[in-house]
Amino acid sequence: GCGKKDATGSAPAASAPTTASARVLAVGTDAAYAPFESQNEKGEIVGFDIDVVKAVAAKAGLEVKFVNTPWEGIFNALNQGDRDLLVSAITITDQRKQTMDFSSPYFDAVQLIAVKADAKVAKFDDLKPLKVGVQTGTTGDEAVSKLQGKTSTNIKRFESTPLALKELEAGGLDAVVADNGVVINYVANNAGAKFKTVSDTSFTPEQYGLAVKKGNAELLAKVNKGLADIKSDGTYDNLYKKYFGT
Ligand code: ARG
Repeated sequence: GCGKKDATGSAPAASAPTTASARVLAVGTDAAYAPFESQNEKGEIVGFDIDVVKAVAAKAGLEVKFVNTPWEGIFNALNQGDRDLLVSAITITDQRKQTMDFSSPYFDAVQLIAVKADAKVAKFDDLKPLKVGVQTGTTGDEAVSKLQGKTSTNIKRFESTPLALKELEAGGLDAVVADNGVVINYVANNAGAKFKTVSDTSFTPEQYGLAVKKGNAELLAKVNKGLADIKSDGTYDNLYKKYFGT
């Protein structure tokens, strides 16, 4: 790009970033959430969410680096300005919208129950008297807290979702409730765990969004434009196929 504008007045996609936008944006992600974000053998952060943000950044002329950020501190890191953007399979909720701004939704999800293959759990309500593992502060935690009561001693809260699933495998839990994509991925890659999944239509449908600090309208607009661009040019569909196979 030579800085020429097209008929709509927007700069061509390949134009060099302006000085202001050239700062490398710190993107926070809790990279223990395959296939959305995880660390490979080399310690690189990889996954569907990562590829989506890279593609969005390329469209929007943004430079990004990914910073592994524990889930429990991730929203604070954004609010305090330590991260510019969050991508972490974050469900857009009314409560979260009060403290941060979300992009347009980029992924549909729902809670899914993991139990041992021989368990007699057939629906979410069956978990009422059981020992259930969740990742602290997730929508899975919210769902089980609603079912059992927030202070139920049968709710076991973990720092990461894989830790909860490992504890289920070890026999320390009766079930885990987490996002469907992550549960399905774990079951597919850990046949030895002998899990089965139980779905329930009573779970609220969820949508993931990228999060920016409340009021960062400039970055949000760029992110939303980038998302719209990758959806319309087939990039998003190719990434979806790469990770979810359909
Ligand atoms: N979608 C769920 C939520 O927003 C769980 C997200 C957890 N993400 C992660 N990378 N650990 O509460």
